[in-house]
Amino acid sequence: MTDRELQALDVLDDVGQKLLFTEARTANTFAAKAVYDHELAMIWELARWSPSAANSQPLRALFVRTREGKERLVRHLDEGNRAKTLSAPAVAVLAYDVDFHEQMPSVFPARGDVLRAAFAHQAETRQNLAAYSSALQTGVFLLAVRAAGLAAGPMAGFDKAGVDEEFFADTSWRSHLVVNIGHPGTDPWFPRLPRVPIEDAVAWA
Ligand SMILES: Cc1cc2nc3c(=O)[nH]c(=O)nc-3n(C[C@H](O)[C@H](O)[C@H](O)COP(=O)(O)O)c2cc1C
Repeated sequence: MTDRELQALDVLDDVGQKLLFTEARTANTFAAKAVYDHELAMIWELARWSPSAANSQPLRALFVRTREGKERLVRHLDEGNRAKTLSAPAVAVLAYDVDFHEQMPSVFPARGDVLRAAFAHQAETRQNLAAYSSALQTGVFLLAVRAAGLAAGPMAGFDKAGVDEEFFADTSWRSHLVVNIGHPGTDPWFPRLPRVPIEDAVAWA
């Protein structure tokens, strides 16, 4: 392949790297400034390009924006997480769909019927695949929140069975993460915690 034929990909500039990675923080308080539906839609429109196993896309999101909705949600959160969610203008309850295989014909047209039939009788495999791929999609979702100029506060400290009963009864959605979304409020960050250095985390071959 000549240099001329090579497809050069863009490199994210410094501003983008800071926004998405090096200066992005987990917010613990939120300003009383609205988050609009079109911003939440933008987050999803970006996040949905995440890779997933066999393009299965098991991630689902419930956007909770009303006072009533937040009160239904906070009952199931760990005590220390409740005030954060009440102060956030929007909250995403992220879930995975254990029946994602039903959509395989539309998301993987070449082999969708075969994959749907193969997964139909493998509930445990579907559960494992959905949990793993939705976790990857969730990382992309958090970057999408940041790309929309908003701060995210992910929280796993909640009663998942309780949230599922409250919002997803009689559905195939299973909650796995609550993400507070908004503009940072007063004193929003905890002190930055150290990251594992490259020497301890990366091997080379
Ligand atoms: C899977 C997951 C679960 C988390 N659960 C909670 C939680 O229950 N409550 C909380 O206050 N923060 C929670 N956090 C936030 C982390 O503590 C925070 O992202 C981490 O310390 C890094 O902070 P920083 O982004 O400001 O550097 C969670 C984050 C993730 C990704």
